[in-house]
Amino acid sequence: PFPQSVRLVEVGPRDGLQNEPEPISTATKLELIDRLGVAGLRHIEAASFVSPKWVPQMADHREVMTGLARRPGVVYSALTPNLKGLEAALEGGVEEVAVFAAASESFSQKNINCSIAESLARFEPVLERARQADVRVRGYVSCVLGCPYEGEIAPSKVAEVSKALHEMGCYEVSLGDTIGTGTPLKARRMLESVARDMPMDRLAAHFHDTYGQALANLYAVLEEGIAVIDSSVAGLGGCPYARGASGNVASEDVVYLLHGLGIETGIDLETLADTGTWITRTIGRPNRSKVGVALAAR
Ligand code: HMG
Ligand code: MG
Repeated sequence: PFPQSVRLVEVGPRDGLQNEPEPISTATKLELIDRLGVAGLRHIEAASFVSPKWVPQMADHREVMTGLARRPGVVYSALTPNLKGLEAALEGGVEEVAVFAAASESFSQKNINCSIAESLARFEPVLERARQADVRVRGYVSCVLGCPYEGEIAPSKVAEVSKALHEMGCYEVSLGDTIGTGTPLKARRMLESVARDMPMDRLAAHFHDTYGQALANLYAVLEEGIAVIDSSVAGLGGCPYARGASGNVASEDVVYLLHGLGIETGIDLETLADTGTWITRTIGRPNRSKVGVALAAR
């Protein structure tokens, strides 16, 4: 029942770095992005066109977007929460953007300062403008397996927001376990609910590993038909508005799991692991990829 191949969306340069308190140089970000391309990642979330007051680490979004050594066949995307962000991203030559909503009202307020309904209304003109510019738009839903403020989130709420993003024109909806509290059974039930209202091949899994369940959850949703996975090299990251949340599932661990299942990714694990070792040393963070640590120790 597993897919033959899985597309990885590398979110390390964005989700992985956005929460770093010390400024990371644009040059380091650009080198990270380029190394990920060399490792075979074909979809890299490179920057975030959000307010620098809210997320200072992403303030050099423009320099990152324009400084990229664009490799053929690689999509470099950016988050754009509103029209202002999209216009700036377009000036930076972006070819794909992402809007981000939540399945929790409180998280929506804390993260983007508006209600879920207001956020969806705000995304309409973003999608419209992106269409004109021939730029694809991905959609995120946060808190699909729990919220730091509200606790349990109903799968029907996740389905409702996902469907709205899909109908608005998002080519793919990425389901975010923002605080990593999900377990495989919950993940499967949530996905089943969402996939009743929109096609499975338009869905992606974006799982944080706070409680160490991300790989197990991914295995569960792979069985259900998920074939797009978001991950972060070395498991970098966390969410500024989700206290205690650790990083995304590590890309190296996902690739190791997938290759072990005979699923193709197009990624060279050694090169990816070297990239994880390099970036964690450069920014002084522990490498949270078990596979990365094991490979580096050989
Ligand atoms: P706001 O304060 O409600 O917006 O923020 P506003 O329109 O009233 O503008 C306020 C100020 O922000 C103004 O500047 C605007 O110009 C500026 P001032 O006049 O005060 O100097 N501004 C902007 N500046 C740069 N770029 C922009 C932009 N828009 C307004 N695009 C806003 C609303 C959404 C902008 C704000 O709340 C924000 O930037 N939030 C950032 C949220 C964020 O980045 N969160 C992390 C990413 S989401 C995530 O990690 C979850 C995900 O990984 C999935 C998962 O794991 O669940 C995707
Ligand atoms: Mg995230």
